Amino acid sequence: MKPLLEHLLARFKRVQQDRKRRIFVIPKWENQLETNEPIRIAIFLFFIFFCIVLGLFATGHVTYSLVFLSLILTSCTAMVLNLSLPKIFYSNSKLLLVFAVIAINLLIAKSVYVWSIHQPGLESRAIYFYVSTAVAPLLVTALINVNAGVIVVVLSSVFISLLVNPSIPLLASNLLSGIVGVYFIQRICQRRDILKAGIAVGLTSLVCAVGFGIINGGDTDVLIQQAFLSIGIGLFTAVLINTLLPLLEEIFQLNTDFTWLELSDLNHTLLRRLAAEAPGTYHHSLMVANIAEAAANAIGENGSLCRVMAYFHDIGKVINPQYFVENQGADNPHSRLTPAMSALVIISHVKDGVDLALEHHLRRPIIDAIQQHHGTSLVYYFYRKALQNIEDCRMGVKILNMDEGDLPEIDESRFRYPGPKPQTKEIGILMLADSIESASRCLEKPSLKDIEQLVEDIVSQKLQDHQLDECPLSMKEITEIKKSFVFSLKTILHTRIHYPKNTQNVEKSSGGDSESSERGPVALIQSKEGMEISSGVHS
Ligand SMILES: [Fe+2]
Ligand SMILES: [Fe+2]
Repeated sequence: MKPLLEHLLARFKRVQQDRKRRIFVIPKWENQLETNEPIRIAIFLFFIFFCIVLGLFATGHVTYSLVFLSLILTSCTAMVLNLSLPKIFYSNSKLLLVFAVIAINLLIAKSVYVWSIHQPGLESRAIYFYVSTAVAPLLVTALINVNAGVIVVVLSSVFISLLVNPSIPLLASNLLSGIVGVYFIQRICQRRDILKAGIAVGLTSLVCAVGFGIINGGDTDVLIQQAFLSIGIGLFTAVLINTLLPLLEEIFQLNTDFTWLELSDLNHTLLRRLAAEAPGTYHHSLMVANIAEAAANAIGENGSLCRVMAYFHDIGKVINPQYFVENQGADNPHSRLTPAMSALVIISHVKDGVDLALEHHLRRPIIDAIQQHHGTSLVYYFYRKALQNIEDCRMGVKILNMDEGDLPEIDESRFRYPGPKPQTKEIGILMLADSIESASRCLEKPSLKDIEQLVEDIVSQKLQDHQLDECPLSMKEITEIKKSFVFSLKTILHTRIHYPKNTQNVEKSSGGDSESSERGPVALIQSKEGMEISSGVHS
């Protein structure tokens, strides 16, 4: 029995060892489906058909004017999207989402309208006025962006006014409540933000309804009823968005701030494993998350996304934690490896990270962050060590009077991360924050000048190495990011910061004779050393 168990165990281990590492590749069919032109045309045709069917509810038969109107409206929508939101126009899934939410809006509006006109006495109270028309723009804002939300406000308001109920007050109310809703939902951090947006929509509808009611000489009891109904519609909008948002997130594989809030839970299996098996890396990731989030917020980018990316960026280090300096004790396993082998182990944390992220079904932006956070940087520490070894061999060759041509060549590409370079602003910020956090650990009793020098050196080094060439960060934004890094590091290193003892010292410092100015070159060397370590063992 025992040999059988041992045999099974050995076989299981072998199967585990033989397991191929997962590689992140977008399937060809997915790309084709996303950009296929016939599919895009089919979406437009289907929407025209939907508009015609919607018109049938009232007339009962297809008229030329209805077909023509649907055709004109859909063509206008296509042109508006092509001109103002080409990224949505050329992405079939996003285009489908925009049309799907406009269709939901139209369907609700038409249902309420058809029902209300068949209720005796209800038309005078204009109950069809109170339709939750802000649903489409609010959903699009939460799932795509504010610009798309504003375009959808205009499109859905015009569609409702032309296909459901031709009313100027209704058009004005829909436009205003939609824009107000978009304003309130543009950055949602908590569920209650959706409720706030819903209430804002309700209050705007109330102001419009009461305003138009007074102008048209409406009864007081009708106005009071309309006021309550408006608030109810606003709350219903919030409930509907809360219900539809997670569903649409999953169907269209889109991410909202809620996605990042859920992923920022430190109880995630992978993060718990990182904390247990690589505590140094875990602590480093938390620090990088704070620095990167603050920098992203400083330039108006998605701080929550940056935080989550930072949590998972070094997750691959759980495979061989002892090979990374932040997890090492007295023993350094690299002393038993060649520089090339050490570099291979260091570089593999990116591929291992992608493998783990795929295994745990992490979202695409997180996988991209793991893959791109080192770009094509050089593992400088081990590259320099390899060069040093060759230099030592050259000396030996000279002493032994041998041919220098026998010396092996050092291939620099073997010491570089495979990339790609950061493709988004958030990953660019992550790359810089990662290197800066690692290097900052080499600073002992730094002055503010040392911190500024460290940030300046690392950012310049990444720019000179062309690591940020494919990332859409502007120089103005990089300047803001640097300021944010200095502020964050000042807060993190607060207890270590060396302050001048009195004002005399400060005066001396400006005269170039202070402790601070004497420490300047030392700090520079330390920071440069930090950079080397950061591109090598550390980060
Ligand atoms: Fe790192
Ligand atoms: Fe890393």
